[in-house]
Amino acid sequence: MPVFPDSGPLRLVLDLDPDGACLPIVHCAGSISGCALLIEHSRGSYARPGLRGHRSGGRDWSPAFTGVRVEVDGDRLTIDAADPVAGLRLRTEVEALVGGALRARHTVTNDGADDYVVDGLEVTLPLPDDATELLDFTGRHLHERAPQRHELADGLWLRETRRGRTSLESPTMLIAGAPGFGFAHGPVLGAHVAFSGNSVLRAERGPREDATLGGGELLLPGEVTLEPGRSYTTPWVVFAAGEGLDDIAHSLHTWQRSLAAHPDAQPVTLNVWEAVYFDHDLDRLLRLAELAAGAGVERFVLDDGWFRGRRHDRAGLGDWQVDDDVWPQGLAPLADRVHELGMQFGLWFEPEMVNPESDLYRAHPDWILQTGGRVPALQRNQLVLDLTRPEVRGYLAGAVSAVLSSVPVDYIKWDHNRDLLEPGSNARSGAPAAHEQTLAFYDLLDDLRRRHPSVAWESCASGGGRIDLGVVEHVQRFWTSDMTDALARQQIQRWTVQLIAPEYLGAHVSSPVSHQTGRTLPLDFRAATAFHYAFGIEWDLTTASPDDLDRLARWIELHKQYRGLLHGGRTVRIDLDRAGELAHGVVSADRRHALIAHVQLDEPRSRRGTRVRVPGLDPAASYLPSRVGPDRKTGPTSGAVLSGAALGQAGLWLPSRRPETIELVALDA
Ligand code: DGJ
Repeated sequence: MPVFPDSGPLRLVLDLDPDGACLPIVHCAGSISGCALLIEHSRGSYARPGLRGHRSGGRDWSPAFTGVRVEVDGDRLTIDAADPVAGLRLRTEVEALVGGALRARHTVTNDGADDYVVDGLEVTLPLPDDATELLDFTGRHLHERAPQRHELADGLWLRETRRGRTSLESPTMLIAGAPGFGFAHGPVLGAHVAFSGNSVLRAERGPREDATLGGGELLLPGEVTLEPGRSYTTPWVVFAAGEGLDDIAHSLHTWQRSLAAHPDAQPVTLNVWEAVYFDHDLDRLLRLAELAAGAGVERFVLDDGWFRGRRHDRAGLGDWQVDDDVWPQGLAPLADRVHELGMQFGLWFEPEMVNPESDLYRAHPDWILQTGGRVPALQRNQLVLDLTRPEVRGYLAGAVSAVLSSVPVDYIKWDHNRDLLEPGSNARSGAPAAHEQTLAFYDLLDDLRRRHPSVAWESCASGGGRIDLGVVEHVQRFWTSDMTDALARQQIQRWTVQLIAPEYLGAHVSSPVSHQTGRTLPLDFRAATAFHYAFGIEWDLTTASPDDLDRLARWIELHKQYRGLLHGGRTVRIDLDRAGELAHGVVSADRRHALIAHVQLDEPRSRRGTRVRVPGLDPAASYLPSRVGPDRKTGPTSGAVLSGAALGQAGLWLPSRRPETIELVALDA
């Protein structure tokens, strides 16, 4: 019975039917339940079918794939099967990823004589019988990736994303485990659809059928209609398993760190959005750049507002030429000075969008996504361009490239500030185009990456609306959320690392009074909140006091000192079970160093102090705990050297502190 891969937390046992009459039965390691990677009604399953489709008149709607051939080639498993009656072929590919996760996808090919409409094609794995608790995520602008847990009772739990982008309310991952699983305990299996468009995540249990977990792309009506000889391939569906949620996160982070596009180092970045918004003034920006460089910033990003007509968010999108009124000498005086100061220069674009109030829209009103002749309702005063049309992609690649050729740009923040409403293409009489649009986005981005190989790219969508394992293969950074209030940010970051490694996640020190909540938070709390991630600033430093500038500079220096550990180690989130407190951190690969953050969000319930149990250390090694902060590396927290076993079981005791404070503790063996 072949097992794939040979080792790792998630292995598939391919239990082939003796006559090869059906798809392999797949068992996840540790699970005695079984199911095919594709759920087939024809094999007696009454669950949501893996392939839903038909030909004209409803023919060939229930395929039965036989003649299975399995091939293992290194870290890739390929399973081929066919249904000669329905005229369909199915290929399933499974890849073992660095770090222990698996990703799987199906390709269906139409071998028949007429069109085959694919309504849905999903990949599933079996769930153990006791995996009756589900964790997934919801959210909104400024509140992304809020966890929600519930029981997986009999029935179907279906999370559909139909906003045409990964979305602010994205389920992100669907994770199943025995009730009560935590960051470091409880066997868990999670699924994620690695795609930046519409998607489906599903978990299903029935009184007579094994439970399953999986997903695929959400297809709009007729969106994938296969002519004879044509194929449709699903996005990769990524599955990760382990003992506790941190195991899943770590296996995904390890894979991301193996990617060609992974950033070598993540520069400390200042983004000017919350400092100036649309009020672009060269002298003010130069002053900001000088202060940033003085504080140790390594990359300066000019956000929205630099192009023609963009004095507010009601006009300009689509006209990607520097605005002469605001920038009479172009962007060079700013970009050159930024470079002279030793920083990289970054620039904001939102290529997929157009304002009706723009020259582009006046010239090409038919270039938008729409259907039924209706102009979709505006969101943030903008519409979405139809990237499936080569002339639209050509215009955008040319316009962005022209800017990059005229001014030295090292970094692009690529934004996407609205959902896709009625995304039909005028090139095809308004037929749905969300699937093609998503692929066209990857194409356009890759085209620009090829033309400008030295540029680094950030994925942003109204904050954290395009964070997924599809786009991570194309970018170096994410804007985690427009929420820069550090108190609210703690939760968003804590859960975004469930999917994405901390070095990708832009985390910016904002102004003392939050622009989103009006709350005033101390600089040390704001900086320590950003510390473990892609550290940055989103604050008008021309208004900061000399003391604050000096302290910020010391935080930046400290971040740089620890950046290798923070961005290369294993992320740990600690189950504290105390209201108003959080703890998280990072442990180096050799387990000799760790940097733990204990976050006092609110007034502590008791004055007894907190015990923070640090997982993942070497039980036999001795660690010296020391406080880390901008004032000093203060030396031992208690004077005591503690073993990794003691730190893991009894924990590190920290005294009670005031709310809105963070204690950073280094543990060095
Ligand atoms: C939304 C982003 O998340 C912000 O950071 C900023 O870039 C604005 N868009 C600009 O319009």
